[in-house]
Amino acid sequence: MLGNDLLKGELVYLNAITRDDVSQYAKWFADLELLQYLWMQPLFPLTLEDEMEWYDRMRKSDVYNFAIRTIDHIILIGSGGLRSIDWKNRSAELGISIGDSSYWGRGYGTDATRVLLRYGFLELNLNRIGLEVYGYNERAIKSYQKIGFRLEGTRRQALFREGRYYDTHLMAVLREEWQDSANAD
Ligand SMILES: CC(C)(COP(=O)(O)OP(=O)(O)OC[C@H]1O[C@@H](n2cnc3c(N)ncnc32)[C@H](O)[C@@H]1OP(=O)(O)O)[C@@H](O)C(=O)NCCC(=O)NCCS
Repeated sequence: MLGNDLLKGELVYLNAITRDDVSQYAKWFADLELLQYLWMQPLFPLTLEDEMEWYDRMRKSDVYNFAIRTIDHIILIGSGGLRSIDWKNRSAELGISIGDSSYWGRGYGTDATRVLLRYGFLELNLNRIGLEVYGYNERAIKSYQKIGFRLEGTRRQALFREGRYYDTHLMAVLREEWQDSANAD
């Protein structure tokens, strides 16, 4: 049995998002540098009130969102979760956001994504976990490929940003692929 290790990676562990965390999220989500990777909608900085409303909605909905904290110093660095859960077809969408940009490119997000996959497949009994990533988010695409996500399709020129159109990519990993890979170790 994994017990607490179910939500532990090598660099991060996941636990509940508390009301006290929301002010930190509000600071991150006021930053367009981060939002450009997360939103198709017009970029617009969020406020603390927006985040509080999101938090209250999130607590009542069928989503599994976690705070991402560093394993050594218990610092809050982001959030991630599984949403749009289709319990009949056993599929969900993964969302991941390391809010503190000083942790980008250092493996923390990849580690947290691995933990989310383990949770989705072993605890939620999902069969398929998918996501959409924007063509200019090379770091995320590489991270997902490294973990075993496969490209399923491209939505051409689906995103208009800063004066031009970008493709977005649909990626997913199936439970059997995940089981066959080193991630399931
Ligand atoms: C996307 C994200 C989850 C990736 O996690 P991460 O831990 O930062 O990723 P990694 O450090 O494992 O890097 C992944 C790969 O991208 C490469 N990389 C790092 N920075 C890069 C950059 N600026 N441009 C291109 N590639 C980059 C790394 O070298 C690594 O490849 P490698 O393992 O072959 O060396 C994280 O950066 C993040 O949350 N970013 C902001 C929000 C976001 O983009 N969310 C995803 C929305 S779909």
